[in-house]
Amino acid sequence: VLRPAVIPDSPEAFEHALRAALTEASGVFVLGDENTLNHCWPEVAARCPEIQGSPLMEIEPGEAFKCWEVAGHLLETLAEYRADRQALLICLGGGVVTDLGGFVASVYKRGIAALHLPTSLMGQVDAAIGGKTGIDLEGLKNAVGTFRFPKEVIVWPQFLTTLPEEEMRSGMAEMLKHGLIADPGHWKEVLTLRPTNIAERPDLIERSLRIKEDIVRNDPHETGQRALLNLGHTMGHALEAEALQSGHPVSHGSAVAWGIMAETRVALAKGLIAREEAEEIITALEKIFGKPSPEILRHTESLLGKIINDKKNRGGEVRATLPTAIGSASFGISVSEEEWMAALEGY
Ligand SMILES: NC(=O)c1ccc[n+]([C@@H]2O[C@H](COP(=O)([O-])OP(=O)(O)OC[C@H]3O[C@@H](n4cnc5c(N)ncnc54)[C@H](O)[C@@H]3O)[C@@H](O)[C@H]2O)c1
Repeated sequence: VLRPAVIPDSPEAFEHALRAALTEASGVFVLGDENTLNHCWPEVAARCPEIQGSPLMEIEPGEAFKCWEVAGHLLETLAEYRADRQALLICLGGGVVTDLGGFVASVYKRGIAALHLPTSLMGQVDAAIGGKTGIDLEGLKNAVGTFRFPKEVIVWPQFLTTLPEEEMRSGMAEMLKHGLIADPGHWKEVLTLRPTNIAERPDLIERSLRIKEDIVRNDPHETGQRALLNLGHTMGHALEAEALQSGHPVSHGSAVAWGIMAETRVALAKGLIAREEAEEIITALEKIFGKPSPEILRHTESLLGKIINDKKNRGGEVRATLPTAIGSASFGISVSEEEWMAALEGY
């Protein structure tokens, strides 16, 4: 079952939420990356001295470590510690740590409990919410994974104080996406903030993650409306992968924002969205995220190939989520190669 994330409003409430999540655990194991164990673990350990001595499993930061080899190593480590089925895995980190740790927890002994403590904005409003776990295979993003809700998600916005600005901007793209698919007021409010000020608005972080929770609750296994959350991701994933291949990596959030811009042009060309609203979306996103560089855009064939191979497609037909207004979108819309081309040229 999806339990709503807990967003403590004071250090005491954070401590209380942590303690509540630890009850019933036969043993506690902590997964984090180098940055989150340095910046965030001391605070967790200080609030809960009883878990200070728990085994820490540290990975190097970065998407490259969300992989099969690392997952296998973590499973072996749990087995060496003789973790039993009542063990709890604390996943303290960004989306890499919660996706990887969530996956490991979901398959170790057919599933142990995970406690997600997301430390990046992307993690707090998106990755740690909704029960999708996963690892990459040879560059194929999230090629292996499970659907399994963590036992609890505790969102402590104070963690964001050490998060680099570019990572804040990346998470902001997903918050704007939540506004675009479900709440025009949220879109407007998030647009008034600078990325570095978001930590001061836990109310907006909460609104964002509740939008995702509501959609997931209605469609946990993505048979329908959960696909709304893919807005910006068909084109976005292609741009992100192309950028990586051409040696100019970009953040996931920027790629999603650029994806939304292109998908808005597709929607406009199809007559699905009013011109003023489409222009408002594109102008606002461009102001914050800029545009993909010419080095990425000139690989048109490769970009189209990536869109066609997207795992969200069915039977060779590319289906996308497109905005229909500020605050609503439609999913499962067939988009032709020519329409994608025209949207790419629009940059
Ligand atoms: N499961 C889902 O539904 C879902 C949704 C969105 C994204 N994701 C996945 O999430 C991943 C991206 O997440 P991300 O952007 O959080 O990446 P990430 O986990 O790599 O974190 C980004 C960087 O910030 C650092 N960091 C995190 N918290 C910090 C803090 N408090 N202080 C200082 N540094 C900190 C990390 O060490 C890392 O270097 C991708 O793998 C993506 O596929 C999953």
